Amino acid sequence: MEVVIVPDAAAGGELIASAIAHLLTGKPDALLGVATGSTPLPIYQALATKVRQGAVDVSRARVCQLDEYVGLPAGHPESYRSVVLREVVAPLGLSEDAFLGPDGGAADIAAACAAYDRALAEAGGVDLQLLGIGTDGHIGFNEPCSSLASRTRIKTLTQQTREDNARFFDSLDEVPHHVITQGIGTILEARHLVLLATGEAKAEAVALSVEGPLSALVPASALQLHPHATVVVDEAAASELKLADYFRATYAAKPAWQHL
Ligand code: GLP
Repeated sequence: MEVVIVPDAAAGGELIASAIAHLLTGKPDALLGVATGSTPLPIYQALATKVRQGAVDVSRARVCQLDEYVGLPAGHPESYRSVVLREVVAPLGLSEDAFLGPDGGAADIAAACAAYDRALAEAGGVDLQLLGIGTDGHIGFNEPCSSLASRTRIKTLTQQTREDNARFFDSLDEVPHHVITQGIGTILEARHLVLLATGEAKAEAVALSVEGPLSALVPASALQLHPHATVVVDEAAASELKLADYFRATYAAKPAWQHL
């Protein structure tokens, strides 16, 4: 696992957007797995800026969703489908045809989950999966004690996650209890995992994930199992890392040709 400590969220966004641009240069139709929440927004903004400047061609890129709420009315502005279309697909000038996501409104949720795993495989698999991290260490919506081998399935949110996400809704009562999420096993099939964490509230979860034992109690610790996982953190999110100086020195000495 590579840990990169950046000065702030904007620098993290720029670094990861550059990695995506590099990927698309070699594979113009790459499948990008995108995350929601506040953390990845600087990545999407930096990437859209590169597109406007003509620094990267995203016209053949494809985008897929990590997770989704269950039961929000179609077109609800806070469904993750709406969020990804608004924050990623539209600013990059992509069409909805380039977008894959699970159906959170399906009558048969189990079938919709299995269909989404199949769709990802049929699309050739995810090339680069962006991840955020919950304050409890969740990735996607894989809450603590999710199986490290799990596939896309329905999960029940913890009270903590519902409270964390209530800021996107008018009240806590409106935050769904149930979600669909790519499983940890599904996420681990992506060719490159890139987790961005910013702010002090994520420091403990980051330290447990990067330096703690592999544990279903801390779902993001599953990144330790992946051969190409990159964790980008700002100084605040890095503040509980014991090996911070080592991570800084390693990245400072990294040959540029290696990219992320
Ligand atoms: C939600 C999403 C996660 C995201 C997390 C953290 O739970 N399902 O993918 O990582 O929120 O969000 P934020 O980046 O806003 O802290």
